Amino acid sequence: MSSQDIPEENLPSEQDAAGHTLQKTADEHPFADPGLPPHEHRVQDVDERAAKSSERTVALLFTISMLATIGFIASYVAFPVEKIVYIWPIGHISALNFALGVTLGIALFCIGAGAVHWARTLMSDVEIVDERHAIEAEPEVRAKVMSDFAAGAEESGFGRRKLIRNTMFGAMALVPLSGVILLRDLGPLPEDKLRHTRWARGKMLVNMNTHEPLRPEDVAVGSLTFAMPEGMSEHDHDFQTEIAKAALMIVRIQPEDIKDKRELEWSHEGIVAYSKICTHVGCPISLYEQQTHHALCPCHQSTFDLSDGARVIFGPAGHALPQLRIGVNEEGYLEALGDFEEPVGPSFWERG
Ligand code: FES
Repeated sequence: MSSQDIPEENLPSEQDAAGHTLQKTADEHPFADPGLPPHEHRVQDVDERAAKSSERTVALLFTISMLATIGFIASYVAFPVEKIVYIWPIGHISALNFALGVTLGIALFCIGAGAVHWARTLMSDVEIVDERHAIEAEPEVRAKVMSDFAAGAEESGFGRRKLIRNTMFGAMALVPLSGVILLRDLGPLPEDKLRHTRWARGKMLVNMNTHEPLRPEDVAVGSLTFAMPEGMSEHDHDFQTEIAKAALMIVRIQPEDIKDKRELEWSHEGIVAYSKICTHVGCPISLYEQQTHHALCPCHQSTFDLSDGARVIFGPAGHALPQLRIGVNEEGYLEALGDFEEPVGPSFWERG
């Protein structure tokens, strides 16, 4: 556009000494504001049938989004994780991942495309010129903003075009379901599994090194013995899971050296059995100092006094090691007199 094409009213002006406005000519201001071109109405603004067609298109996009979200959930249920398919040009790919990606992509794209099409074809198309002004807003300006917002909501047809509004609500309500469904990948809830171990009344204490049931005479004063419940095998599929809760630490202390009354009652001739799993973050405790009866966790140096209820005397562990009540069966082997009475391991398990 040349300066010759600029409307006269858009050319900058100056004032003479008497305050009269002097309009400059186009030749004097070749870079003047060209102004806005004439506004052209969209076909939807002048043709109600075209507006209806756009409305149906927007509703169709939101509906496709809803169907894609349902497809996402159905894919999650229908496709096994191990199923592999060939898709050109990607090649071999997990059917589940492909289906989840495609359906979620379509669901999100259709919401975006529907919103854009709605804004471009049906929402208000009035061009507004706003002069620059100070940033701070006066109360009346804020009031005007609110009234403009209300007018905008009215012009968008949000309340009037119920088909679009309802399908959009449906699409946006269903899309978050995709994220909720994916929570299943976190695995089953632990329920009360963390509160129970393989220990039960009558289960013999088996030496973890020799795999032989322990007799009281096998536990010497000052020694540290590790034990597991009878019936467990390292070949069991859940051995690591179960031993992580059931592993025991057995020491013999002179009964008169045991300070805690309950500990003495739950012991057998000074033999005490405590969980081997540290109550800080679950490391296996492996160090024992026979003079002081202190057990030390090598991870962060939590120290437990095994002669005093295994209370924490140093380090970050939150509470004492759980004790297992033990006795001797008719054959003379050490046995459990029940399960632990509190959860073993880190204290956060207790909050489950
Ligand atoms: S795990 Fe034992 S002190 Fe941290």
